[in-house]
Amino acid sequence: MDLILYIWRQNGPEDMGRLEQHRALHISPDMSFLEMLDQVNEALIKEGREPVAFDHDCREGICGMCSQVINGIPHGPQKKTTVCQLHMRNFKDGDTIYIEPWKARAFPVIRDLIVDRSSLDRIVQSGGYVSVHTGGVPDANAILIPKEDADSAMDASECIGCGACVAACPNGSAMLFTAAKVSHLAALPQGRVEAARRVCAMTEAMLREGFGNCSNHYACEAACPKGIKVKFIAKLNREYIKAQFNTGRNT
Ligand code: SF4
Ligand code: FES
Repeated sequence: MDLILYIWRQNGPEDMGRLEQHRALHISPDMSFLEMLDQVNEALIKEGREPVAFDHDCREGICGMCSQVINGIPHGPQKKTTVCQLHMRNFKDGDTIYIEPWKARAFPVIRDLIVDRSSLDRIVQSGGYVSVHTGGVPDANAILIPKEDADSAMDASECIGCGACVAACPNGSAMLFTAAKVSHLAALPQGRVEAARRVCAMTEAMLREGFGNCSNHYACEAACPKGIKVKFIAKLNREYIKAQFNTGRNT
């Protein structure tokens, strides 16, 4: 299939940026979206032009690096799918596709489709350590965890830190991401020891980094490639209020 692409090109954080038209020719429906962009870049390099800069790593939907808004939707039209796992069979011959980077105050554009998402790393970093007694396998298994809690922790831990929730949110909020990180540790007894300090530190880091607040649009849940539910934001709020009482803080 042949496609018309409008790709966001931006030389750096200070550049205004613009949409540039490109042609993607002879694209196989079995290609991934990133393989299609690889082909576009090969053609640009052959012509002596600058290739399109975009982020990727695993190309298996687990690292959270690929971050593109495709036709206005973070990660594109297929639900619960990262850009690297999106296949060209979701498009048809002659389609026009708009490709832009995540746009949020806390994610400055580095170049073209690459944004700086280190603000998410700093939120995680602010959470600090977890006290876990490491011993033999029998020691670890001696702590009984209700299945419901283990399942909830597993669901929250699926977050790959891609930032699509931030890109989808009209407030540029990182509440879903922070909620997933806080919840997956708070659900387990090993993570309870520092739970109060962790939720306060991560929430404060989130605000410091310039992310907005949640106003219940649910756009984050709709865009999340890992199906992280907004119920975790409710858990984050509960953990935060509890911590305020337990630590005597009032922020
Ligand atoms: S909550 Fe979902 S959309 Fe947000 S960073 Fe995690 S995986 Fe990505
Ligand atoms: S490249 Fe790793 S999730 Fe897409």
